[in-house]
Amino acid sequence: MFWFLQSPMALKLFLFALLISLPTSLSSTASKGKEQKPKFNPYRYKFIDKASTFASSSSSSFSSNGRDSTYDYIVIGGGTAGCPLAATLSRNFSVLVLERGGVPFTNANVSFLRNFHIGLADTSASSASQAFVSTDGVYNARARVLGGGSCINAGFYSRADAAFVKRAGWDPKLVNESYPWVEREIVHQPKLTLWQKALRDSLLEVGVRPFNGFTYDHVSGTKIGGTIFDRFGRRHTAAELLAYANPQKLRVLIYATVQKIVFDTSGTRPRVTGVIFKDENGNQHQALLSNRQGSEVILSSGAIGSPQMLMLSGIGPKKELQRLKIPLVLENEHVGKGMADNPMNTILVPSKQPIEQSLIQTVGITKMGVYVEASTGFGQSPESIHTHYGVMSDKNELFSTIPAKQRRPEATQAYIRRNKYQLHEAFNGSFILEKLAYPISRGHLSLLNTNVDDNPSVTFNYFKHPVDLQRCVEAIRLVSKVVTSKRFLNYTQCDKQNVHEMLSLSVKANINLRPKQVNDTKSMAQFCKDTVVTIWHYHGGCLVGKVVSPDRKVLGVNRLRVIDGSTFDESPGTNPQATVMMMGRYMGVKILRKRLGNKAGV
Ligand SMILES: *[C@@H]1O[C@H](CO)[C@@H](O)[C@H](O)[C@H]1NC(C)=O
Ligand SMILES: *[C@@H]1O[C@H](CO)[C@@H](O)[C@H](O)[C@H]1NC(C)=O
Ligand SMILES: *[C@@H]1O[C@H](CO)[C@@H](O)[C@H](O)[C@H]1NC(C)=O
Ligand SMILES: *[C@@H]1O[C@H](CO)[C@@H](O)[C@H](O)[C@H]1NC(C)=O
Ligand SMILES: *[C@@H]1O[C@H](CO)[C@@H](O)[C@H](O)[C@H]1NC(C)=O
Ligand SMILES: *[C@@H]1O[C@H](CO)[C@@H](O)[C@H](O)[C@H]1NC(C)=O
Repeated sequence: MFWFLQSPMALKLFLFALLISLPTSLSSTASKGKEQKPKFNPYRYKFIDKASTFASSSSSSFSSNGRDSTYDYIVIGGGTAGCPLAATLSRNFSVLVLERGGVPFTNANVSFLRNFHIGLADTSASSASQAFVSTDGVYNARARVLGGGSCINAGFYSRADAAFVKRAGWDPKLVNESYPWVEREIVHQPKLTLWQKALRDSLLEVGVRPFNGFTYDHVSGTKIGGTIFDRFGRRHTAAELLAYANPQKLRVLIYATVQKIVFDTSGTRPRVTGVIFKDENGNQHQALLSNRQGSEVILSSGAIGSPQMLMLSGIGPKKELQRLKIPLVLENEHVGKGMADNPMNTILVPSKQPIEQSLIQTVGITKMGVYVEASTGFGQSPESIHTHYGVMSDKNELFSTIPAKQRRPEATQAYIRRNKYQLHEAFNGSFILEKLAYPISRGHLSLLNTNVDDNPSVTFNYFKHPVDLQRCVEAIRLVSKVVTSKRFLNYTQCDKQNVHEMLSLSVKANINLRPKQVNDTKSMAQFCKDTVVTIWHYHGGCLVGKVVSPDRKVLGVNRLRVIDGSTFDESPGTNPQATVMMMGRYMGVKILRKRLGNKAGV
């Protein structure tokens, strides 16, 4: 629902501004190799380079010599958890990060708030966002870029509550030191827009109290959270946490796609020896772990990538691995299980005036386990770039209601024409959204093939559990009260809308591939089921106690951990990125302390 492009004029102006402001940088990249003084480095840090620079290049045989000898840590995935983790470990140990995507620093789709929806809509192979559609019929996205989800998300920053930290068994003192480590570098206080103020005041009016002001803390009531966008609308990402790294000991390879983790299975327990990855030219390489005690491969590929990588490497449900002829290293039926996504439903509030763009700034944290937020200003003007958005194309809704053989081109075109008007109207306004904090419904992930570039099949089973559905119904009632409250209407100057009409906008806005029913706006339960979307907080797949130990070591094998959101049984705080980055730092410090004791110096 955020994939509507802005005016081409704005884009051209922006490109023009970029060209005139960076003339030296462009010329110096062109003359790479020559001695030039202030050389522009598109990768920002010297320790980042393309995967093909790895010395042991060979598609037929692996060798490891020269500076590519061995590493104390190999981190698979330079994402929201991987970057802070690698930066921390590199203080005292050699670390190799293998990231399948590129860098975020020079990518305008990532760097600017105003391009949020454009970046998400980009379904090309080089996009920082890799689209997938769960079997539930809901569009979703996973990050494919250094900095991970922090490069493609809405930027909201809010910590986990104390109860989450307690359930995780984490040391609260170290947690309290690790959050500020992230915040100092990349987190900002937002400048509230009019509509975010309207949301704040109407939440208070309908009883989501008290007002807790601007805070990173997770407290019941209404608050303003942090953001990784600065006051110029520029995004700061987990990749910037690499500024903390020891450049002598860190090496980050981009466009490095790990294909499998390699095990030595000759002993009593499988033991990791390294990983096989391919570079941007498709050549294979092997990176090896040092033989020193404590060396580890750490999987930080996220809730889709980590369970997928375990299975591709031979750890997972036996039947599934056999089906794809993957040699079994260790049977574990729990890999890929316990997947969950926080269901989100939205009410669209149309407006006659263009609205200032904002992502998430205000959040209502209710006692019923529901969060209320808003995103505004995605107006589609007549000058907008009208493109087809690949998997996210508005043709797709047709696919959910019309059998394949009846999808005639004329019908598709007619549908697009019809739909455009509705979108045009709806997207001058805002989305007021509610999402469930702790969904009970669970799903699973399974491989479709052995190609790591392909998405596995993911099922979340939104609203399968009746309690989830009941909570959504209550949440929609609450949001209906918010958008018809006095404060909201006074601020936004919108006409008081009939709630059913607003609900019908969400139904018609074509936001997922689920079949629609005639009773969608009469039955809130049906509305919840039919208009569910993701807020991209999916988690699980490598749960603690099932796949990893509390310190995130993979059960049953040596020298392998998983440190990312796949180990979470619930999404922390109102938005997980704060805690995922914190966890990268936290686990890095824990590992250093364990290995070095007092000498770690952290
Ligand atoms: C680990 O790194 C820190 C920072 O560079 C340093 O102060 C500390 O002495 C190192 N510890 C060991 C055991 O090398
Ligand atoms: C940004 O996204 C648009 C499509 O949404 C795409 O056409 C463009 O190439 C992307 N830009 C970059 C730098 O990736
Ligand atoms: C950690 O910080 C939170 C507030 O951010 C505070 O409530 C809590 O008491 C702190 N815990 C420790 C152990 O310092
Ligand atoms: C949306 O805003 C544009 C100006 O950006 C305006 O031209 C258009 O009429 C508005 N649409 C509606 C339905 O109010
Ligand atoms: C209505 O909004 C205006 C600003 O747009 C504000 O000054 C006024 O206090 C508001 N009134 C109420 C009752 O909220
Ligand atoms: C809505 O109508 C459909 C049939 O179109 C029916 O299967 C469903 O149970 C109804 N939903 C509710 C909540 O009444």
